[in-house]
Amino acid sequence: MSDDRFSTQQPADKDAYTDFSEDMIYGDYLQLNKILNAQFPISGEHDEMLFIIIHQATELWLKLVLHEVVAAQNLLTQKDIRASFKMLARVARIQKQMIQSWDVLSTLTPADYLSFRDDLGKASGFQSFQYRAVEFALGNKHPAMMKPHEHDSDKHKALNELYHGPSMYDRVVQLLDVADLGIPHNLVERDFSQPYESNDYVRNAWKTIYTNTDKYWNLYELAEKLVDLEDSFLQWRFRHMKTVERVIGFKRGTGGTSGVNYLKKALDIRFFPELWELRTEL
Ligand code: HEM
Repeated sequence: MSDDRFSTQQPADKDAYTDFSEDMIYGDYLQLNKILNAQFPISGEHDEMLFIIIHQATELWLKLVLHEVVAAQNLLTQKDIRASFKMLARVARIQKQMIQSWDVLSTLTPADYLSFRDDLGKASGFQSFQYRAVEFALGNKHPAMMKPHEHDSDKHKALNELYHGPSMYDRVVQLLDVADLGIPHNLVERDFSQPYESNDYVRNAWKTIYTNTDKYWNLYELAEKLVDLEDSFLQWRFRHMKTVERVIGFKRGTGGTSGVNYLKKALDIRFFPELWELRTEL
């Protein structure tokens, strides 16, 4: 007896619009002709398509991360802590997608990658402008990281502005000052191009917040959102480092660094150092 609950054919809906001679169609709005025609494998090897798409997809997510981080920072500058939570929560969900995507890339074996690695020349994620912009916005800035972008004045200028401006954490430290938590003036108005260094006054301010959560609920919630963000960033770095080890072992990177050992060192970086140190003291 046939079961008519199931069909092998998509039902046509007679009300669906079909004439787009005068209207914008889905693909036009999303510029899909550009995005879906931007994959140009150069080796002719099957697996290069995965390699290209995973990088492009990550760059799209990074674009949204940057958009949200900049917006969150603007709200923090205006002291609107609660409104920034919406952006920070979204960043956290995007980071989960980015971490998950390493599972797709781990289907690339060393032999698969080696079949086209030489075709990449010196190209490497090390030269990702958006990744650097996110790192700079979050406070991990090094002038040497701008060098690969010197030939592109727009990108170099954008990184240079982030380099000289306050990071998201600098804005957060200013909020601790607004809450009268004993932040010295030279931290509130500092040379923002200098690396942020962990500070006893800031750690003590966080300690006050974590031991008086009712009084400082917004700052406490903000702190935990920042720890979430950094935790996920570290998970991304770790999965990247381990995927690289799995695929190329300890070979040098196409970008010229020592490879896995370079990536391992990045695991010690902290955007929000006192928020981590504080845990031991509570
Ligand atoms: C088989 C896959 C991959 C390998 C073998 C690989 C290898 C490497 C290596 C060795 C480095 C250090 C710099 C260098 O000398 O090249 C690096 C950096 C980097 N890669 Fe990958 N990578 C892979 C996939 C990806 C993917 C999918 C992304 C996503 C966009 C990515 C983004 C980055 C970024 C942003 C850096 C800079 C990290 C930093 O400076 O802290 N990589 N990669």
